[in-house]
Amino acid sequence: MNMRILGIETSCDETGIAVLDDELGLLSHELYSQVKLHADYGGVVPELASRDHIRKIVPLIKKALKDADTNAQQIDGIAYTQGPGLIGALLVGASVGRSLAFAWNVPAVGVHHMEGHLLAPMLDDPKPEFPFVALLVSGGHTMMVKVEGIGKYTVLGESVDDAAGEAFDKTAKMMGLDYPGGPLLAKMADKGTPGRFDFPRPMTAKPGLDFSFSGLKTAAANSIRSEKLDEQTKADIAYAFQEAVVDTLAIKCRRALKQTGLKRLVIAGGVSANTMLRMQLETMMKKINGKVYYPRLEFCTDNGAMIAYAGLQRLKAGQVESLSSKAKPRWSL
Ligand code: KG4
Ligand code: ZN
Repeated sequence: MNMRILGIETSCDETGIAVLDDELGLLSHELYSQVKLHADYGGVVPELASRDHIRKIVPLIKKALKDADTNAQQIDGIAYTQGPGLIGALLVGASVGRSLAFAWNVPAVGVHHMEGHLLAPMLDDPKPEFPFVALLVSGGHTMMVKVEGIGKYTVLGESVDDAAGEAFDKTAKMMGLDYPGGPLLAKMADKGTPGRFDFPRPMTAKPGLDFSFSGLKTAAANSIRSEKLDEQTKADIAYAFQEAVVDTLAIKCRRALKQTGLKRLVIAGGVSANTMLRMQLETMMKKINGKVYYPRLEFCTDNGAMIAYAGLQRLKAGQVESLSSKAKPRWSL
């Protein structure tokens, strides 16, 4: 019999809800972004985030069920993001998810947020076959992972300081862009002049698959401070910054593929929406006769569909949890 799952994502500043059927595919997905709420503060305010999730979660679940033409009796399980993330925000999704599971007498499963990102490309065709190398680049994490199957993840490297998205956001903030500045900085870089600035490619000279982005951010900060910041200069700095991040990520991807002997690469997480990153990785993968996969644009950033997908795989494998299971603000993959 087919299985139909309700997915709930509330780890940060997006309330994402989805209904996924393992035979019919994605039946509905809803997203409420709190970006406007946090913009005035230049970053996510945890307490405001929790409150807004509380306001939105039930109406969004109702809408997702309605759009999926699904009633409560047709739901076979509930997947919610258990961590990592903001504790208050996670607790909203976990409490609602587990209460509904109890009321509807179906299993609940807590999903690792990064597993959700990692499997997001599976929501569309062609799906990457296992095994593959995944580069996870979001606002909170930068990780290289060898993926051999559902739950079979080996972390090959990760950031020792800022995440790639975080470096984008902080650099954008220094240039006076609104939060989250990553996509705005990328847009600004479109008008930039290649070659005017040159920033480092951190940790690429030494072997290894770890990342560091705080030095790169500081290099950009120095230029922002010392230059006269007209629009063209800003665009030129944005270009050089983006180029340095993308080069660094591409160098590490190539290294991870060589080390594992794999030819399939998945990129996921908010920064995988970046056009320059996608283009550079496409070119690189063509050269080595490999293929790069990424989620559709709306599933690069946080969403309920990826949590429903990961939860469905877990539930199909028979994984169910007890009602005492807790939200995990820090949780390694
Ligand atoms: O995965 P995500 O939605 O949330 C986390 O789990 O962190 O990622 C959000 C991050 C932010 O840092 C945002 O600036 C970045 O992804 N981002 C981008 C782009 N779109 C989103 N960074 C660079 N270029 C983009 N086009
Ligand atoms: Zn995320």
